[in-house]
Amino acid sequence: MFLGLDLGTSSVKALLIDEDQRIVGSATSDLSVQRPKPGWSEQDPASWISACEAAIGKLEQAHRQALTAVKGIGLSGHMHGATLIGAEGEALRPCILWNDTRSHAQAAALDADPRFRALTGNIVFPGFTAPKLAWVKENEPHIFAATKKVLLPKDFLRLWLTGDAISETSDSAGTAWLDVSRRAWAPDLLAATDLDESHMPALVEGTEPGGTLRGALASKWGMRGNVVVAGGAGDNAASACGMGVVRPGEAFVSLGTSGVLFAANEAYRPNAGSAVHTFCHALPNAWHQMGVILSATDSLNWLASITGKSASELSTEVGRELKAPARVTFLPYLSGERTPHNDATVRGVFSGLAHQSGRAELTQAVMEGVAFAFRDSLEALKAAGTGLERATAIGGGSRSRYWLETIATALDIAIDLPGDGDFGAAFGAARLGLIAATAADPLAVCTPPEITETIEPEKALVPAFAEAYSRYRALYPAIKGAST
Ligand code: XUL
Repeated sequence: MFLGLDLGTSSVKALLIDEDQRIVGSATSDLSVQRPKPGWSEQDPASWISACEAAIGKLEQAHRQALTAVKGIGLSGHMHGATLIGAEGEALRPCILWNDTRSHAQAAALDADPRFRALTGNIVFPGFTAPKLAWVKENEPHIFAATKKVLLPKDFLRLWLTGDAISETSDSAGTAWLDVSRRAWAPDLLAATDLDESHMPALVEGTEPGGTLRGALASKWGMRGNVVVAGGAGDNAASACGMGVVRPGEAFVSLGTSGVLFAANEAYRPNAGSAVHTFCHALPNAWHQMGVILSATDSLNWLASITGKSASELSTEVGRELKAPARVTFLPYLSGERTPHNDATVRGVFSGLAHQSGRAELTQAVMEGVAFAFRDSLEALKAAGTGLERATAIGGGSRSRYWLETIATALDIAIDLPGDGDFGAAFGAARLGLIAATAADPLAVCTPPEITETIEPEKALVPAFAEAYSRYRALYPAIKGAST
């Protein structure tokens, strides 16, 4: 048995697979996000441990025997979070999360130093880890001074599970301190934020062992022998392992809290200027590119919360058959945007509202706005040398057929739907646990799921969507700087 643990933004998921990668069971436990000030987004690291214990506890109730047979654990987690660790291994403050934009001034200052883009292959985004440390140094100097290690969220769980400060290259690529082509810490970049390698965890590859489960936890869960904890991966690379998106030309589109268009690459191919992210993949000698939009299902959830409807009720009101684009245009920049704008201060917009604009049209505009944001990511990937003909859909929003048809038509690519099953980050993490514990061939393990349906673009509507995309593109320059 192998256990995948995915630390998501809204919940921790624990998922058990057997030697043949069949899912034996899974359980989740919810987490909350604190937003104490505009642009801030934090979580208490202690809540990750309690949620993890609760999820494993639920799994234990249903699958006690299977849990005792676990030989390998894989970790996945939301990326970029700054978890600051003191001399006793304690978290010194709440973790500053991936969608926190408080450090935009520090990010711009680091990004102006050409060494960052040259070594990391990425813009220094405010959501990345390095600028957060620069913010802490300026605003909470006593905490900066007490910081002995900086850990990514899933690696804080590893510290609890194994006692070791270890990370791996896919998640570490999102810190802005990693030399992404060499897959090693970049001392110059660390020095630019007054840190050095002693503040960083040791690095392994995602498929390699990265610690052993502490005896006390192993006996608590009835596990025997040495339980290997794999390097694991940042949640996007872990999902890619779950979906078998590991070979060049393979891609997924994730409609979750954030939206991600992810493509696997055989080589390091950065293009920071297009605001595409270029990171190490969880497999050795593999990299990936992705466009990241900050509010995907979050945009529809926002509309749901202010209209008093659920997201699925809103989606039903739009109807079944794909319509020509709405006259109303929505920019989904509720918490700023990464790809393609790298703009932490821009905010969302509805444009083109008329007396007759009703709730259903606003819902349609929100779905289209998110689809156009994915189109921006597709264009950014193309500019970085990666053209896509198809992508596999994952994430909660992919339950809406209307939304998927909108995306297929706005991007003019085929969207593949896997059959029933769970191919997300927790499954990918469990696969990494299996590989690390058994030294299996990563490519033989990370195979794609069976595709049961393909949503083709609605060809008759592709020109109308292209025109609506031009309207969408024209809006950002018009509102840039207006929200500050
Ligand atoms: C990726 C990113 C998000 C988080 C969310 O760069 O910030 O996708 O990993 O979980």
